[in-house]
Amino acid sequence: MSEKHKLVIVVGSVREGRFGPVVASWVAERAREHGGFDVEVVDLADVEIPLSLPAVPPKFAGDSYPRPAGMAPLTSRLADADAFILVTPEYNHSYPAALKAAIDWHFTQWTAKPVAFVSYGGAAGGRHAVLHLENVLTELHAVTIRDGLAFPNYFTGWEDGRPLDPEVPGYAKTLLDQLGWWAAALRAARDAAPYPA
Ligand SMILES: Cc1cc2nc3c(=O)[nH]c(=O)nc-3n(C[C@H](O)[C@H](O)[C@H](O)COP(=O)(O)O)c2cc1C
Repeated sequence: MSEKHKLVIVVGSVREGRFGPVVASWVAERAREHGGFDVEVVDLADVEIPLSLPAVPPKFAGDSYPRPAGMAPLTSRLADADAFILVTPEYNHSYPAALKAAIDWHFTQWTAKPVAFVSYGGAAGGRHAVLHLENVLTELHAVTIRDGLAFPNYFTGWEDGRPLDPEVPGYAKTLLDQLGWWAAALRAARDAAPYPA
């Protein structure tokens, strides 16, 4: 078994001119520097994610769920992951529709795995989006990590692809330490016995 945990960082915004990839790149750099993870960034803008779902929920369909061909790389990355970081902006006090659709097309791929959040936006720094995501991911039996990163008024708080606040890399390390701890604990638990979902 690899000592490193497979970390998938999801870029949750697909909007034209979006800021999301800047945040995700910086987070990926911190995660690679941390050393505890094999890091992959998945950009939802590159994935075919229809809003119309099949008749049966994915929870009950298992591996036979009829997903579009253009979703296969996303599905296999989610399935292989030991841990996730969702990078999300705040849209109307919640998170983008593309991210909800990507979540809803899957189920077991999230189960008994840790999820951390990095958010950005106006005054609230995307915290409304994260509160909604925590609620949704609990339904999928994922484990959400308390210590996220939130970037209020990111348009003044970032320069040259990085946050100006010198404290932030330390906060990122704490988040990654916690995510790594949960990734190890939950991988051992999943290996020991199937999760009783
Ligand atoms: C449809 C829409 C709704 C938004 N609603 C909020 C909001 O409720 N709170 C907030 O802080 N920012 C809001 N914003 C501003 C976004 O946080 C900002 O545009 C950010 O850049 C979006 O992330 P993105 O560039 O990665 O798409 C909204 C932006 C859009 C496009």
